[in-house]
Parts: sequence; structure tokens; C-alpha cells
Amino acid sequence: MEQTRSEILKTIPYGFYITGVVGADGEANGFTTCWVSQVSFEPQQVVIAVRRDQRTHELMEQGGVFSLNFLDTEQEDLANRFTQPLEPENGTVGGAAYVKGETGAPLFEDAFAHLECRVVGKMEAGDHTVYLGEVASANLRRPADILTDLDTPMEYGG
Ligand SMILES: Cc1cc2nc3c(=O)[nH]c(=O)nc-3n(C[C@H](O)[C@H](O)[C@H](O)COP(=O)(O)O)c2cc1C
Repeated sequence: MEQTRSEILKTIPYGFYITGVVGADGEANGFTTCWVSQVSFEPQQVVIAVRRDQRTHELMEQGGVFSLNFLDTEQEDLANRFTQPLEPENGTVGGAAYVKGETGAPLFEDAFAHLECRVVGKMEAGDHTVYLGEVASANLRRPADILTDLDTPMEYGG
């Protein structure tokens, strides 16, 4: 029964992003995220689920903003790199260069598109917090297809 639930949950398709966050001291970080969905047209809003025992959850709480950095089908390595705790160094996070967007959230230069969001609501969902973000800025750097869990053995769900 438990296994059936997990198997079915794992069939839900997801796109892969690096979520960019910034702490109260201005320090940027990021982590691979796939639990993301648009939830409103007007205004344009998205939700993302962030695991509460993660370091980056604290930065999300402090900053009240996040960026979604869209990864393309050739960027599995980058997705992999951001599934572990990374240190900011020399204007990069784990070697990935970024600039700060208008909200202060980091925009990673390798991403093919960025959305910046301000947190306008949140709710606890078991071991994650669901953040409601209102889109504040958008930037398409190049046309590309998003990396999904159908392209890689990496998974999050079940
Ligand atoms: C494919 C994949 C998708 C992930 N999606 C999420 C997600 O949606 N939300 C989340 O909180 N963590 C997600 N993670 C886990 C984080 O990327 C991972 O825990 C990361 O280390 C968190 O960064 P931190 O340790 O610096 O806080 C995912 C991991 C993988 C492998």
C-alpha cells in the first residue's frame, strides 16, 4: 500500500530548477528544486515546497524572496551539484556564477530563464514549507527545453 502510493507519486512529472535564496546578511545560495507549480494567472504566482530541515530553508525565511533558475536538458550536472550544501565563494555558489536580481535573489548565469518572486504567503506541509511567490521579474536568456525527471534518473518524490 505504502509502496503503491510512492510508485504512483513518483509518476508525477516535474521540471528542474535551481532555487536561488538570499540570507539576511546578503549571502546567496541555491538548491535543486522540482516541487514547483504556477497557481495563479492574475497576479502570476507560483508555489515551491522547501524541506524544513535544509539550510536553505532558513535563508528562504530570512530573505522572503526566491529566484527560479530554469535548467535545460544538458544541465544534469548542474542539477546534481545543487543537491548538496554548497558554499558561496568569489561571487559564485559552488562555482556557479550569478548576479543579483531586483529582489536581491541570485540569478545563476547558466540558467536559460529566470523568474524572481517575492514570498506573499506560506503554509506548513508535513516536512516541507510551501511558499507562495508572486512573480516580480522574468528574464529569458535563450530558448531551451527544461530538464525534467523524464530525462534523468534523478528523482524527488514518492
Ligand atoms: C531531483 C531533486 C529534486 C529536488 N527537489 C527539491 C524540492 O523541490 N524541494 C526541496 O526542498 N528540496 C529538493 N531537493 C533536495 C535539495 O536539492 C537538497 O536537499 C539540497 O542539498 C538543499 O540545499 P541545502 O542543503 O544547501 O539546504 C531535490 C533533490 C533532488 C535530487
